[in-house]
Amino acid sequence: MNNHVYFFDTTLRDGEQSPGCTMNLQEKLRIAHQLEVLGVDIMEAGFPASSPGDFEAVRRIADQAGDIQVAGLARCVASDIDTCWEAIKNANNPRIHVFVSTSPLHMQHKLRKKPEDVLAMAVEGVRRSAGYTSNVEFSCEDFSRSEGDFVCQVLEAVIKAGATTINLPDTVGYAEPEEFASKLDYVIKNTPNSDKAIFSVHCHDDLGLAVANTLAAFRVGVRQAEVTLCGIGERAGNASLEEVVMNLRVRHDFFHLTHNIVTEQLYPSCRLLSMTIGQPIANNKSIVGANAFAHESGIHQDGMIKNRETYEIMTPQSVGRTLSNLVIGKHSGRNAVRSKFESLGYKLDDEQLNLVFEAVKHLADRKKTLHDDDLMALVQEEVYRMPDRFRLRHVSVQSTDAGGVPPTAAVLMDVDGIERSGAGFGAGPVDALFNVISDLVGREPELEQYAINAITGGTDALGEVTVRLREKDITAVGRGTHPDIFVASARAYVNALNHLSKKEQEGPRLHCQHD
Ligand code: KIV
Ligand code: ZN
Repeated sequence: MNNHVYFFDTTLRDGEQSPGCTMNLQEKLRIAHQLEVLGVDIMEAGFPASSPGDFEAVRRIADQAGDIQVAGLARCVASDIDTCWEAIKNANNPRIHVFVSTSPLHMQHKLRKKPEDVLAMAVEGVRRSAGYTSNVEFSCEDFSRSEGDFVCQVLEAVIKAGATTINLPDTVGYAEPEEFASKLDYVIKNTPNSDKAIFSVHCHDDLGLAVANTLAAFRVGVRQAEVTLCGIGERAGNASLEEVVMNLRVRHDFFHLTHNIVTEQLYPSCRLLSMTIGQPIANNKSIVGANAFAHESGIHQDGMIKNRETYEIMTPQSVGRTLSNLVIGKHSGRNAVRSKFESLGYKLDDEQLNLVFEAVKHLADRKKTLHDDDLMALVQEEVYRMPDRFRLRHVSVQSTDAGGVPPTAAVLMDVDGIERSGAGFGAGPVDALFNVISDLVGREPELEQYAINAITGGTDALGEVTVRLREKDITAVGRGTHPDIFVASARAYVNALNHLSKKEQEGPRLHCQHD
């Protein structure tokens, strides 16, 4: 049996469609590039038929991709498949990924179709895809709650129709590892032509078992893992790439499986994702959390000093936790700044470098040491922002604890290219700021979440603010960074307002698990 595992990353599709993880085009292109550097075999760039924005993002990712396989998701519907192909056809290695639900529950209530109609849809979908490319993946959505013999029947037919990868998802995170493995084993053994395809799993984490289920699947011959960076994805998320791959590396003695992931790129990749979506990595997160290699208790520290292996099963270096802190400051020249960003994986053109160079100088005036994380936050802010309807120019805030004198804020900003200014009060300075901005843009969204985080240590650290706004049934996340937390808050709020307005213009987006 082949002992190589292929990593299929769906951060840009399943991950990106989850609340709070939306990315703009520039951000998706940046993550896509990093996935190649990380050594991912196949990246799912999006679901092109779900919205014009998704189509464009998948098309641009496919255009820029090197040899990595670029997959697009499609339902077993002719127009989805045609749209998907249009989006990915310029990739060096395009893949069409079609799916249909096979569980009784989904067939009856979601699709309202009989099993024989679902079988026909699956075959027709794969046949149409195979007319475009020989690289076709087929998924039985909700496999873990599907009947084994029906799945075998569908798989035999789709493999005959041209599917070369068969993905069996635990869509709702319901499976238990042993049960999942034996169900997969049954299906692989009872599908007569199963040797003509690579088997894959795609596990959700609703019961916290996505990684365990993925690893269990390898034991019965599955050789493709569908995963995301930091485990982002629908609801509780997907199996996390970094956890699955480090199990294979650290426990090679147990799995005896090889892969193409450059594990030293794990931390930089997860950090980039976290910066991009504005969601901090939990301190106790395996592999990439701040505490994953910290040894606090005296007994552990003593053991570590005597021999690292007493309490450390892998080195921080093996997962890339060695970001250099080459100092960039006030006196750094353009070339130093350019090469610093190159070492962090950002290739900046001249215009982008100008923007970033100015911003580095401003930041260095306020903050003595610029860490890699500061620079990554800065490039996110300056380069990867989408063109905005609302642009913040200046804010001024007065906070006070004197009774009877309310905190005040004054704001100068552009609304659709027209300069506007205003001032007002609030329960606190952030409330005052948000009230003034809401008045200036003429909207009254509900603030669902506000979070603030210091990007690095020290009292001069950059503040990173994330806000989530809701207006009717649209939610949008925004983030902002600045050494002054009120400026960061205002930036985050305006960023979220821009996302709200963009989402409103684009209209609803199809989410594969709901449509
Ligand atoms: O969770 C799921 O079943 C999916 C499929 C579309 C692969 O995301
Ligand atoms: Zn999924």
